[in-house]
Amino acid sequence: MKRLTIPAIQARKGGEPIVMLTAYTARMAQLLDPHCDVLLVGDSLGQVIYGLPSTLAVTLDAMCAHGAAVVRGSYHSVVLVDLPFGSYEASPEQAFASAARVMAETGAAGVKLEGGAAMAATVAFLSQRGIPVCGHVGLTPQAVNALGGYGARGRSAAEAAKIEADARAIADAGAFALVVEGVLEPVAQAITAAVACPVIGIGAAAACDGQVLVTEDMLGLFERTPRFVKTYDDLAGRISAAVATYAEEVRARTFPGDDQVYRAKA
Ligand code: KIV
Ligand code: NA
Repeated sequence: MKRLTIPAIQARKGGEPIVMLTAYTARMAQLLDPHCDVLLVGDSLGQVIYGLPSTLAVTLDAMCAHGAAVVRGSYHSVVLVDLPFGSYEASPEQAFASAARVMAETGAAGVKLEGGAAMAATVAFLSQRGIPVCGHVGLTPQAVNALGGYGARGRSAAEAAKIEADARAIADAGAFALVVEGVLEPVAQAITAAVACPVIGIGAAAACDGQVLVTEDMLGLFERTPRFVKTYDDLAGRISAAVATYAEEVRARTFPGDDQVYRAKA
């Protein structure tokens, strides 16, 4: 199976929904890859892997290391890497330098960055220079301090209109796709209808052109799960049970058993 391309993802606008999940490690990428169209190396790895309180302290070094691991662990999905906070907002040139480093060091097909109209010039700058950009509007976690929390966006008509204008600005600037996170369903529906590129929802709407979730959330592996997450398994519970059994057997000297020890060959 050949790896999907950015144009193939773009062509899914209004068609078969795009299946996207986060991946941070090679092994998880291997497991997700056959089922997904896009693997996102999200800066959510700050909380999920590194125990940080937000995504703000995530570094470009970390994104490059995890991005390379996910590319090595996949052969089918398009791999996108988040540009972390502080690596792209200052200028289009800063964004290009960071994105070019990500592309060169990881082999990813594109980058994702957060923000609306203020980032449109940057999206155009990168897109016109061979770096496919996925936008991210609505609830943008890197702006948690400005937003005052992780609550759903677009509850007032003015805020809904601003998010829609942000989405249009990023799409018009040449983004090949757009993540819309944590907005009222009608806002996500309106954006999906309004822009030419595929809209990938998270806490958004089934009407979007695709969906993304944090893998650890949907597997029941992370401690805090937002309302919009459907948990498809309880891996935390299963890991606890398995480790409790191991601990019991070590303490009872029933592990290792006959099958797990080396003996002289007969
Ligand atoms: O970092 C991340 O995981 C993301 C997705 C939730 C869209 O940006
Ligand atoms: Na992110």
